[in-house]
Amino acid sequence: MDGNGRWAEQRGLDRSEGHRAGAEAVRRTLQGCRNLGIKYLTLYAFSSENWRRPKDEIQQLMQLLRQFLQERRQDLHKHRIRLLTIGELTALPSEIQDDLRAAMEESRNYDQGTLILALSYGGRREITRAARDFAEEVAAGKARPEELDEQAFASRLDTAGIPDPDLIIRTSGEQRLSNFLLWQASYSELWFTNVLWPDFGKDELRDAVEDYKRRHRRYGAREQG
Ligand code: IPE
Ligand code: MG
Repeated sequence: MDGNGRWAEQRGLDRSEGHRAGAEAVRRTLQGCRNLGIKYLTLYAFSSENWRRPKDEIQQLMQLLRQFLQERRQDLHKHRIRLLTIGELTALPSEIQDDLRAAMEESRNYDQGTLILALSYGGRREITRAARDFAEEVAAGKARPEELDEQAFASRLDTAGIPDPDLIIRTSGEQRLSNFLLWQASYSELWFTNVLWPDFGKDELRDAVEDYKRRHRRYGAREQG
């Protein structure tokens, strides 16, 4: 979700207004996913690098996240959507950790969809942590190096049990992954749009999905027929 700041600047507004409008775009996108039958949505809401932003902007983003959780909790319940997080939850303010844990606990058995919030998330960190965890197990004599294959490694990532993304959308004209789901994105289809995140909605989501449906995914194999 990129472009909140530029959206606000273009309107002579404070960046925080862009983030507020971005939260509305999230609401529309969640609805769009429900309509399209998309079962997993991961939102890159706050990266491990976003901590480098000015303190007041971080505070605004955290405040919005709290508000989002309070406002969307009913929706998750109503539509039986399970909430999960990836990233370093413990790096977040403790009130938000509490809110997140409560919402996850409440929704853990819901089976109509999964919303995954990437918070204080960085792909390299996630991979490094998984490698370190395994190394520690080996050092403690609880595992052997030859036991580690792709599946075993993936099961140590934050996304254990979550399917790899079919489609990754990035808004605002940037064409890079910026440390998002580096391991999991190996065969994901990528879709870029110049639309700024606060302007993103059901139409853009539908366009991206339509484009995705026309693609042939081969996973390194040869085209069939
Ligand atoms: C994304 O918009 C907001 C998040 C950090 C989730 P930006 O704040 O990066 O907006 P630009 O890139 O400055 O326009
Ligand atoms: Mg940006």
